[in-house]
Amino acid sequence: MKNIKNVIKNLRKKIKLYEYFYNVLNISLVPDHKYDKLLEKLSFLEKKFSKYDSINSPTKKIGNNFSNSFKLNNHILPLLSLESFYKIDYFYNFYDFFKKKYHKNLDFCCELKIDGVALNILYKDNLIVHALTRGNGYSGENITNNINVIKNLPKKLLGKNVPKVLEVRGEVFIFKSDFFNLNKNLSNIFKKSFSNTRNIVSGILRRKKNSKLFNKKLFFVAHSIGYVYPSNRFKSHYFMLKELQTFGFCINKYNYVYKQKYKIINFFKKILLIKEKINFDIDGIVIKIDSINIQKKIGNTSKFPKWAIAIKFNTQKLVTKILSINFKIGRTGVITPVARFVPVNFSGVIVKNASLYNKNNIESLKISVGSNVLVKRKGNVIPKIVKVISKKNDKSFKKIFFPKFCPSCSSKLVLNRSKKLYMCINRVFCKSQKKKIILHFFSKHGCNIKGIGPRTIEILVNKKIVNNSLDMFNLNEKTLLNIKNFNKKSIIKIVKKLNSFKNIYFYNFLYALGIPEIGISLSKNIAKNFKSIEEFIYFSYNCNFTKIDNIGKKISNNIYSFFILKRNIIYVKELSRKLKIIF
Ligand code: IVH
Repeated sequence: MKNIKNVIKNLRKKIKLYEYFYNVLNISLVPDHKYDKLLEKLSFLEKKFSKYDSINSPTKKIGNNFSNSFKLNNHILPLLSLESFYKIDYFYNFYDFFKKKYHKNLDFCCELKIDGVALNILYKDNLIVHALTRGNGYSGENITNNINVIKNLPKKLLGKNVPKVLEVRGEVFIFKSDFFNLNKNLSNIFKKSFSNTRNIVSGILRRKKNSKLFNKKLFFVAHSIGYVYPSNRFKSHYFMLKELQTFGFCINKYNYVYKQKYKIINFFKKILLIKEKINFDIDGIVIKIDSINIQKKIGNTSKFPKWAIAIKFNTQKLVTKILSINFKIGRTGVITPVARFVPVNFSGVIVKNASLYNKNNIESLKISVGSNVLVKRKGNVIPKIVKVISKKNDKSFKKIFFPKFCPSCSSKLVLNRSKKLYMCINRVFCKSQKKKIILHFFSKHGCNIKGIGPRTIEILVNKKIVNNSLDMFNLNEKTLLNIKNFNKKSIIKIVKKLNSFKNIYFYNFLYALGIPEIGISLSKNIAKNFKSIEEFIYFSYNCNFTKIDNIGKKISNNIYSFFILKRNIIYVKELSRKLKIIF
């Protein structure tokens, strides 16, 4: 009990600190979702252990009515994301590929990519069943009781030809003009101001107590559908949207259908020019194959539809100074230079390092320790150094020397086939790679054993208790409980989980092996072709994986190179004896 009291006390302290930095200093120490999670956790504990509840808790501030009471419901069909790129060139490949694969007259529906909050509304017999946020794509929070904050969401669909069951997907957003006015008033209610329109929309949608101030302040634009019954109801994406309009939905006025590449490029250029004048935030354009029949044939990956892409706009750039360069060793042996710089604040998000990708990039940027550089966030997420803006005439500049030997195991680095990346090819004999390989084995799409983090693996490998993933299954509590810095409770939990772990799907197993470039989606694609581990190993060096859909030469070679090593075959065999691989 005393422990709970302390947990609550520490949580409050942490949250108050974050709030102070955010509200007073305008510095975001953690991303919004992490802050929300902490508040949710605190609110949960205060309800469960009500004797420790307090009116001075940050959860009692109006606005911090957190959503732990929203139920989760499944989307009938997953609400996927979009594959996004920052260069229009990626659209060329997409366009050429599908034109060639299908027919020359293929239509593409071009739309704005609205920077809002995705919502999925299920209608049956014209009436709303529920409205769900995206959540993890498969289930989302049921915010049906809050939809009155959206001005234009139809509660009842109009017309005679409405499908019996229909999932309508779209974006909820706030007009920029309203954002500026509201943000002033909102700081009293939420006790913070919002750095962007998306956060404000998310905050309003997920509030339990609603204020008149928000009533009908949000807007909904429909951009796609999920499940529809009867199926085959719609043939063209563009005309499907037009029909949604007749049912009562608002659709974007910038939706266009084009056949020619140059017209799509012109659309992108035009939107880029006028985007500031549009009264809601957009972060790019979306290009979708218009034929719904062809969309179905092309299908999805586990994350996004393969028949659509987004081309995003590049955004804010800030100046900072390089402090140092570190060289990180990846799981597959790639050495990546990472620049650490004086922290910069991108609308509340603090950024302090960026990958420099490879040696060529360092050389072409002409970057040194001490240089002033321009940093941007690709897609508002990944930090990237764009260029050096100071001349190297100062003695304090230190030229960067790319290492010749692995910073972890000191073996000589080699250039990979593309001649761009330096690699440590010592694989499991390099401690740094070994740790990452083990971590990967137990990760979400691998064995999915929670609690096995980098720190645990670091200690186990450094103490020579574990040398590979297999050893993890032979851990016992006794040895581990003697190790300093290990939390007893979590160790007992992990060992229990490892001891009882047995069944694993072949696609998770294949992913867990960590063969370069085999992600979970590809693993699933490969796995369905095999019925035993022996059959797979035999195939991997006798046959060609390119016969399998979506597998090119490079990936086929990666699998071959993995299984050509006798030690890998022995290792896989031993693992397959320990685990029950399900085909
Ligand atoms: S299509 C199944 N169209 O962007 C394909 N999405 O970053 C996904 N978004 O999850 C929906 N504008 O919430 C589509 N014109 C548009 C969009 C759009 C914004 C959102 C959507 C999606 C996210 C991916």
